[in-house]
Amino acid sequence: MRTPYRITVIGTGYLGITHAACMAKLGHEVLGLDIDEEKIQQLNNGNLPIYEAGLEEILRDGLAAGNLRFTTSFQKAAEFGDIHFLCLGTPQVKDGWAADTSQLDSAVEALAPHVGQDCLVVGKSTVPVGTAERLAGKLTELAPRGTTVDLAWNPEFLREGFAVEDTLSPDRIVIGVRTEAAEKTLRALYAPLGDIPLVVTDFATAELVKVAANSFLATKISYINAMAEICEAAHADVTALARALSYDDRIGRRFLSPGIGFGGGCLPKDIRAFMARAEELGAGRALAFLREVDAINQRRRARAVDLARELVGGSLKNRTVAVLGAAFKPESDDIRDSPALAIAHAIHLEGGRASVYDPAALDNARKAFPELDYASSALEAARGAHVALLLTEWSDFTELDPEQLGLVVADRNIVDGRNVLDPAAWQAAAWNYRAPGRP
Ligand code: UDX
Repeated sequence: MRTPYRITVIGTGYLGITHAACMAKLGHEVLGLDIDEEKIQQLNNGNLPIYEAGLEEILRDGLAAGNLRFTTSFQKAAEFGDIHFLCLGTPQVKDGWAADTSQLDSAVEALAPHVGQDCLVVGKSTVPVGTAERLAGKLTELAPRGTTVDLAWNPEFLREGFAVEDTLSPDRIVIGVRTEAAEKTLRALYAPLGDIPLVVTDFATAELVKVAANSFLATKISYINAMAEICEAAHADVTALARALSYDDRIGRRFLSPGIGFGGGCLPKDIRAFMARAEELGAGRALAFLREVDAINQRRRARAVDLARELVGGSLKNRTVAVLGAAFKPESDDIRDSPALAIAHAIHLEGGRASVYDPAALDNARKAFPELDYASSALEAARGAHVALLLTEWSDFTELDPEQLGLVVADRNIVDGRNVLDPAAWQAAAWNYRAPGRP
């Protein structure tokens, strides 16, 4: 294969845009593809359709250098690429827990018949184990006679908010391959990233690494949130408990922050899809604990609503609730399965008036939850509120001055849904402070 490689990146979500821009930064010729024409136009104009720190600059650099472009044409992509990355979404199916892999199937069906030369297709999406094997068969079946289309599986571990950093300096690279040629190509492709631990394995193991990692992280969060439930019952403080646990190197500090739990486009749907696939494989019992991980996570959302209700005297009806945060985590505009919006919606259903503010996710939130009220700043959201809920730990919120916020609210009641505020400072300013897992 010629170097720099000619790469296509199919699917321009958080993963695809980041991967395309970063591959261009490494000097490769990159063509990104999506079926959404508006998005492609936006990207070709150098505008990022998502919020991700540092990414727009890399996108613009690639466009200016001429080695990064975007298209909606599978034919062009097929003719152009030596390596085709599949970065399509695998959302939860509407009527169950499984992952919907139809975007991957459609992409392979649209690409394969047009490939002009021997090439390597590399799956990066999170998929049910067995998908790579199935897609490999499909590629062979649909590729033009005489053309070899090899497949590799190379799961992506990037975190939103750190997407560029995670792509250019990953903790590890995992590749599932069937041929030495595929391994050689991917080793060469990623060599410029430096000395990154590389695990070369088979398709099934590579597919499983991703869901195993996300299940572990989800379990760790739900573990500390289960401890929060116990602390609530025993009048103990889960933040002190977590801190004490974290000094044990074997446990560690990360993903041990108690609060309203995990959301986003990955953790919640990945654990469900993993359980669904395990059932199909006859190994459902092995993942029975993930059902509880999910249930604990859902209960944390309900608990935040309980705390708000208690603070306003037992009923949220006609109460104004300032909701600080809409994104599923800070430094992102992603609202998929966001705990903050789920809580705001629940308050709305109880007759409360949820006034939502988020530094980046307001447009997305408005589209998904038009029934909620939206404000243009934290102070605006808090004006006249009977209780304020801090639900996404943006620094705009963690740095709020309790005195200043106190001047605009109707009542000084706050729920610290992420356990990020200093209770003493808020109590000193005459706020009733409540937080999950704290007395
Ligand atoms: C996750 C994985 O971390 C990443 O490796 C994978 O590629 C995609 O899924 P992401 O969805 O971007 O990344 O978010 P992450 O930072 O993992 O946070 C997930 C959720 O857990 C957020 O809602 C966050 O607020 C919550 N969380 C995280 C906690 O509630 N407590 C914690 O201690 C850590």
